[in-house]
Amino acid sequence: MRYFPPVEFSIKALSPETAKTGCVVVGVYQGQNLTPAARRLDQASKGALKAALRDISGRSGSTLLLRNLPGVAAERVLLVGLGEKTTEGSYREAVRAAAQALKELGAKDAALFLVDLKVGARAVSWNVRHAVLGVRDAFYRFDQLKSEKKPSAPALAQVILPLSPKAELKNALQEAVATADGTALAKTLGNLPPNICTPAYLAAEAEKMAREFKLRVEVLERKDMEKLGMGALLAVARASHQPPKLIVLRYMGSKNRKPIVLVGKGITFDTGGISLKPAGEMDEMKFDMSGAGSVLGAIRALAGMKAPVNVIGVIPACENMPGGAATKPGDIATSLSGQTVEILNTDAEGRLILCDALTYAARFEPETVIDIATLTGAIVIALGHVATGLFANDDKLADEIRDAADDAWDRVWQMPLWEDYQEQLRSNFADMANIGGRPGGSITAASFLARFTRKLRWAHLDIAGTAWKSGRDKGSTGRPVPLLVRYALRHAGRK
Ligand code: BES
Ligand code: MN
Ligand code: ZN
Repeated sequence: MRYFPPVEFSIKALSPETAKTGCVVVGVYQGQNLTPAARRLDQASKGALKAALRDISGRSGSTLLLRNLPGVAAERVLLVGLGEKTTEGSYREAVRAAAQALKELGAKDAALFLVDLKVGARAVSWNVRHAVLGVRDAFYRFDQLKSEKKPSAPALAQVILPLSPKAELKNALQEAVATADGTALAKTLGNLPPNICTPAYLAAEAEKMAREFKLRVEVLERKDMEKLGMGALLAVARASHQPPKLIVLRYMGSKNRKPIVLVGKGITFDTGGISLKPAGEMDEMKFDMSGAGSVLGAIRALAGMKAPVNVIGVIPACENMPGGAATKPGDIATSLSGQTVEILNTDAEGRLILCDALTYAARFEPETVIDIATLTGAIVIALGHVATGLFANDDKLADEIRDAADDAWDRVWQMPLWEDYQEQLRSNFADMANIGGRPGGSITAASFLARFTRKLRWAHLDIAGTAWKSGRDKGSTGRPVPLLVRYALRHAGRK
């Protein structure tokens, strides 16, 4: 398999006019206003930079490449628009546009004179994190299954973040690089085809990570699940030729803290089962393990940066297939909690595997449990592809997650979880049904999970709209790895 080492980042105090680098990147605003770094280049070049401004709008994301500016050591200067002022959005957009331009340019190294800008009320460490994540995102590639013999390697090897190296910024850099590695892992697991990324593949990936980072890992097999009584999970896995796995991966970076348990939906392919999905876009149901991928990615990130936190990943993994042995609409399963579920629609399988995993999570005496799942098409209707749906049975937890999400720019929007919705899950034959009808489909799905988390401090992230992109740019986004990592770190007191 081909492997391209990722871009390397370093923090170094530099001046834009004397920096010896392939490309100096500086910001400009609309209305021909210059950032301090751009102003220095303009002075060094005796007005050559200002003279070029008529060719760039300054709108956020616009770019203009200049070569051989007099008085400037670097061969190239890339101007990047920041809009009217530097906001969180325009900063991120400028980083993205700069990275895209550097990619097309084939520059070998660059210095990003954007990181010293004041972005709203954020600290410089925020700039560092988002610069690294933005560049790494633009340079991510997934081409290991293309047969073309000589793909060009991405040229960009070195990016300098021109700042005076303080401990706090070095920490932010280390955090960002580890988060980018974790996000890339989540993307790749999502992008892999469902004939490769099976439940066994996810388990092997967790075992590989455990070896690399010295983590504890345990994989429960079908017979273990039978012994425990995970009837809901097993009802989903029944018809598949791929054996189900329940993966438990532990990163213990702190001595005395109760763990955060992350539960990730790991349906490696969702056909819908007997309640079969239509053929159009069914291939995208390979992304139905994105919750699992984000849990593995977040643990990889936290272990990679040696974060002082305890995180346990619990991943129920299986395929949802039709077949002679498949669960039928009307079948009743007994969950690990003892509660019975009438399975009226086999395509509402995520909540079935999650309810047993959430019950199992209680044995770790967690401080907090967060499940991450591509759970409902309805959340895409409600929130589109921008915000992840957030549900929680604890308002303080919801606030903490929202703050971490804003910080990571991996945003969430809270949805209600009122008891009133429970009525929709009524069943004539079992304790509950697994569907609640069309109204509030994401909320009734969350309400179903809430019946299994009454004793836990729990939140649920519905990532069906945010975990992957469709169309021309089809591919996993790696969300919400940045959010999960930021949440865990803020929880441990890191700013
Ligand atoms: N994995 C799907 C949710 C999904 C659907 C995500 C489309 C992204 C795009 C989930 O297992 C599912 O099929 N949910 C059903 C639930 C319904 C049967 C109550 C849905 O959303 O249609
Ligand atoms: Mn489904
Ligand atoms: Zn599903």
